Amino acid sequence: MIVQPGSPNRQIRLVRRPADQLRVDDLAPVEGTVPEPGDGEALVRTILLSIDPANRSWIGGRTYRDQIREGDVMAGFTICEVVDPNGTNLAAGTIVVGEAGWQQFAALPARRLRPISATRPLSHHLGVLGVTGLTAYIGLTKIGTPAAGEVLVVSAAAGATGSVVGQVGRLLGMRTVGIVGSEAKRRFVTEELRFDAAVSYRSPTFADDLREACPSGIDVYFDNVGGPVLDLAIRRLNLHGRVVCCGAISLYDTAEPPPSPRGIPGLVITKRLRIEGFLLGDHAREFDAAVDVLQRWIEQGELRVVEEIIDGLDAAPQALVGLLAGENVGKRLVRVGPDRA
Ligand SMILES: NC(=O)c1ccc[n+]([C@@H]2O[C@H](COP(=O)([O-])OP(=O)(O)OC[C@H]3O[C@@H](n4cnc5c(N)ncnc54)[C@H](OP(=O)(O)O)[C@@H]3O)[C@@H](O)[C@H]2O)c1
Repeated sequence: MIVQPGSPNRQIRLVRRPADQLRVDDLAPVEGTVPEPGDGEALVRTILLSIDPANRSWIGGRTYRDQIREGDVMAGFTICEVVDPNGTNLAAGTIVVGEAGWQQFAALPARRLRPISATRPLSHHLGVLGVTGLTAYIGLTKIGTPAAGEVLVVSAAAGATGSVVGQVGRLLGMRTVGIVGSEAKRRFVTEELRFDAAVSYRSPTFADDLREACPSGIDVYFDNVGGPVLDLAIRRLNLHGRVVCCGAISLYDTAEPPPSPRGIPGLVITKRLRIEGFLLGDHAREFDAAVDVLQRWIEQGELRVVEEIIDGLDAAPQALVGLLAGENVGKRLVRVGPDRA
């Protein structure tokens, strides 16, 4: 495919910083132009765009990366095809994972593009074999230090990361309990993903339901949401319990974050708890081994891949707003272009 710099390049930009919850019209499609790649940069065409809770936190700022400002193209993880290597070591047609953002074309440093095999469904490289699956596997096994027979509780359990965490826990011989936001998701994770139990944090009886689902307490809590759910889970932890602090989605999309755990230090000492945050990017050396394990479980039919692909770049703002509202089941992606042009 030949694309000339200056040709049309559909983009989604942040046009208004949300004061509270993100709205679809805070993000707007614009006709940009294809950039000229600079030294060491390749020109890429976006195929699939990952929709992540982190997209919202990057708008809010105070994270591990630069804040997205008004007028910026939205940032996002993508799978792309190299259309102009521009003298870099990537051949035209190579499929890569990178951060092209919410646009059809981008010029990116070749050293920040990771070639991938096109033999598996490309979507898997952003989901179960990409950021979310690796976060689930490495977060649970390395930070959670699980043991067979222990009780694992995971929040946002029907989501991209949570759906893998619970299944990995089951495969490691743990009793797995999901926390979800609806009855439909509760049934999905127990009936389709074979969690042992699931409870809804939106139910007025949530605290009692969680106690009933974990009568012997919790050994590992994999936290995707923060806020009051984290507070409750910590109080149900057993001696030497662990909390894997993966994400805090309940705090991302609001001007008034809910209360977070209070009065915890005493509990941490008496129960000898470990509460540990982690960022996937710190564990790059473990990616290949983790992908091998996840891939083997998929091939054996032990790990179910759950994903939904929404068509068209212009649908991305609604896809993100909907994800923050809990619409998604499994990994949510947007198809920006065909696998092969
Ligand atoms: N540490 C890392 O390196 C790393 C890497 C990737 C992701 N993460 C984090 O992992 C978490 C999950 O990400 P994901 O990509 O797998 O997203 P996801 O779980 O597929 O989607 C987000 C889900 O969160 C739930 N949710 C939304 N608002 C909530 C609230 N106020 N309280 C409780 N649950 C709420 C919704 O499900 P319900 O219907 O159940 O509410 C929604 O479907 C996020 O916090 C993300 O930031 C961390």
